[in-house]
Amino acid sequence: MKVTKADSTKIDSVDFNNLVFGAKFSDHMLVCNYRNGAWEEPEIKPYGPFTFTPAMHTLHYGQALFEGQKAYHMGDGKVGIFRLEANAKRLNHSARRMFMPEFPEEWFVDGIKKLIELDKAWVPDDENSALYIRPFMFGSSEFVAARPSEDFTFCVILSPVGPYYAGNVKVKVEEQYTRSATGGVGSTKCAGNYAGAFFPTNEARKEGYTQVIWTDHKNHELVEESGTMNIAFVINDTFITPPLSDRILAGITRDSILTLLRDTEMLKVEERPIKVEEVVEAARKGTLQEAFGMGTAAVVSQISTIGFRGEDFEIATPADGYALKIKKALTDIRQGKVADPYGWMEIL
Ligand code: COI
Repeated sequence: MKVTKADSTKIDSVDFNNLVFGAKFSDHMLVCNYRNGAWEEPEIKPYGPFTFTPAMHTLHYGQALFEGQKAYHMGDGKVGIFRLEANAKRLNHSARRMFMPEFPEEWFVDGIKKLIELDKAWVPDDENSALYIRPFMFGSSEFVAARPSEDFTFCVILSPVGPYYAGNVKVKVEEQYTRSATGGVGSTKCAGNYAGAFFPTNEARKEGYTQVIWTDHKNHELVEESGTMNIAFVINDTFITPPLSDRILAGITRDSILTLLRDTEMLKVEERPIKVEEVVEAARKGTLQEAFGMGTAAVVSQISTIGFRGEDFEIATPADGYALKIKKALTDIRQGKVADPYGWMEIL
């Protein structure tokens, strides 16, 4: 892999005590182009702008996807990257559905390791922060005919980040708009899934909510996701999360939490369809103990309010509750405070 180092570092321009999510980028990036039916040699070079033609395919048809993962300080100067292989696999799941070329998994893992090795100084020390890894891929052919792009660019950039949400999350059950549908692209991290969510989310914001709870496209009866995260409820000491489908993103944080919960038996676990009605009923009866989102950016994000048809249900966000216990269990593995029995951390 060709590596061209930056002449100087921008790290002094970053206030590591006040990191805003995804606003600052490290000194280097990884770039790999797909041309004539094959991936070319990946390259690490100084972070900087791309030049592109106004007819670049992605700008017109959005054949684009991304991934997200984090690297952490693990003590003794070691840096660990969380579940990179799982990310590589999910990127290729998205690529297949979006009719884009799969990126070789070993290149993904090795390239990101090399990139982080080079920009190790950018991994924040603070335990509420991390280095966010953003791999992405887009169609880069120059034509405006509505057919698949022939050329693609794969790129990885790195961003030191603090917490994603400033506080607890207030969510509104969305019954008008939909994030995904059966047979659609909801299980992928294609760019359009996020773009399509901006309008409904903004509508909810106008009503004082932070995010929406996505419900199924047919009847808006089933809970599916929350904002950009998977969702879970604790009802009667049971952790309930909707099962994966082609409408729901296979969250790596979700999967890690399920693994931890099943192993530690901290809680009973149910992966099953859950109706809005059941959540509202539990909130009314007082059996809804906690609700939270699970994702790479926020890790675990406690939900303090659920709005449904004009009524707000307040939910406890206890400091000693399940959500934060789960978050701590995961964070302890990521920061090397406890053993990593699953081999999740790729240590540099
Ligand atoms: C996630 O946390 O799952 C994300 O996809 C984050 C991103 C939308 C910023």
